[in-house]
Amino acid sequence: MRTLITNGTIVTADGSTAADVLIDGETIAQIGTDLAANGTTADETIDAAGRWLIPGAIDVHTHMELPFGGTFAKDTFESGTRAAAFGGTTTIVDFAVQSRGSSLRAGLDAWHAKAEGNAVADYGFHMIMSDVNDETLKEMDQLVAEGVPDFKLFTAYPGVFYSDDGAIFRAMQQTATNGGLIMMHAENGMAIDIVAADLVGAGKTDPLYHGIARYPIFEGEATNRVIRLAEAAQVPVYIVHLSARDALTAVRDARDRGSQVFAETCPQYLFLSIDDMGNGFEGAKFVCSPPLRSADHQDELWTGLIKDDLQLVATDHCPFDFEGQKDLGKGDFRKIPNGLPGVEDRVDLLHDGGVVGGRLTKERWVEIIATAPAKLFGMFPRKGTIAVGSDADIVVYDPAATRTISAATHHMDVDYSCYEGRAVQGRSDIVLSRGAVIVRDGAFTGKKGHGKFLKRSTADYARLA
Ligand code: URP
Ligand code: ZN
Ligand code: ZN
Repeated sequence: MRTLITNGTIVTADGSTAADVLIDGETIAQIGTDLAANGTTADETIDAAGRWLIPGAIDVHTHMELPFGGTFAKDTFESGTRAAAFGGTTTIVDFAVQSRGSSLRAGLDAWHAKAEGNAVADYGFHMIMSDVNDETLKEMDQLVAEGVPDFKLFTAYPGVFYSDDGAIFRAMQQTATNGGLIMMHAENGMAIDIVAADLVGAGKTDPLYHGIARYPIFEGEATNRVIRLAEAAQVPVYIVHLSARDALTAVRDARDRGSQVFAETCPQYLFLSIDDMGNGFEGAKFVCSPPLRSADHQDELWTGLIKDDLQLVATDHCPFDFEGQKDLGKGDFRKIPNGLPGVEDRVDLLHDGGVVGGRLTKERWVEIIATAPAKLFGMFPRKGTIAVGSDADIVVYDPAATRTISAATHHMDVDYSCYEGRAVQGRSDIVLSRGAVIVRDGAFTGKKGHGKFLKRSTADYARLA
């Protein structure tokens, strides 16, 4: 199958140019001006006049079917990758989970079983490590060799995913020898649990107090601590879902002294605030960790993206229904499953708030949603750009279209939207995954099982100065 996309403007992290793209099978075969006029033939021609061709976006932080708080994140690999595709995201990297006392292998196999034959777009895995011991340290080397080179550890969630400083340092030492990357959820979970218990003891049980208990300084402290541990182990480190200026300061300071520290933020920290957590139990819709912050943190996060102290935006997509899941925490905010839906909305929110909002060039936008994720997570140049030889993951994007975000029209399997009623400018009209059109003008045209596991290499980008 050959597809020719004509009359569009190709936007990559490096620049923008008016050119046609020829896709042969699953890859980009040719890029040039007037390919059709010069005799290039194809089975299908897509006229992209007035629109941009951007690389399929990459979301490196999702949790399909994550077990949390006695329930499971609702999207499956099928529904989640389908929703992602509607929003222009053609690759996700999801977190496989090692259950306490079990092996990394068992966790990874379980995640392969969830995804294989179900995902409609390509996927990779990071590994959540719940135990650091001689066996799991050895298993890390094997996972790196299998294309799962990143490991998430937590200074949060004592008794669940929490690791102490020794365990974190030991895992970091292992990545110094195997080339892997440690990803850190950095909040001081021990201190948070004390504040949270005090609040509940004082009768402050509403969702808002989830946000109040998790002080920004607890995130700043833990971020600085894990960065210092990584410096001691002489390895790069990646901070996930950075939400607060306190943590950004720690990242910026480390980068200024030359350390290989990388970080993502998420749309919820750029567009939502702790004010959304008020309104009684409705606030449960916005319970995630780290929590939403006061609105004055947002400008600093945007500045972090502009100045590359934050390299990318991922969603931390982890959807729980309001009815039947979030309500497990009625009467005690500590029992509300943590996580927000968002995999479908990231590209448009970032376009609207970033490019239309005058904060980001369209090229930087592409870098933040596609190219930097591909580079940091061992997928570049196969993914994350539009170039000859790259996978034909291409989005025909209309930068002038507007739409209103709503649970009534979104494709994520969750009964509410954090952005209900918000108008955004920019829309993915046609989405191709390895040459196949999987979304066209609001209709799904892909296939369950089309998505393939991506064996990723270690992050070259993280190893450069
Ligand atoms: O609230 C969140 N972020 N839920 C998902 C698990 C995690 O910590 O990333
Ligand atoms: Zn986390
Ligand atoms: Zn997460």
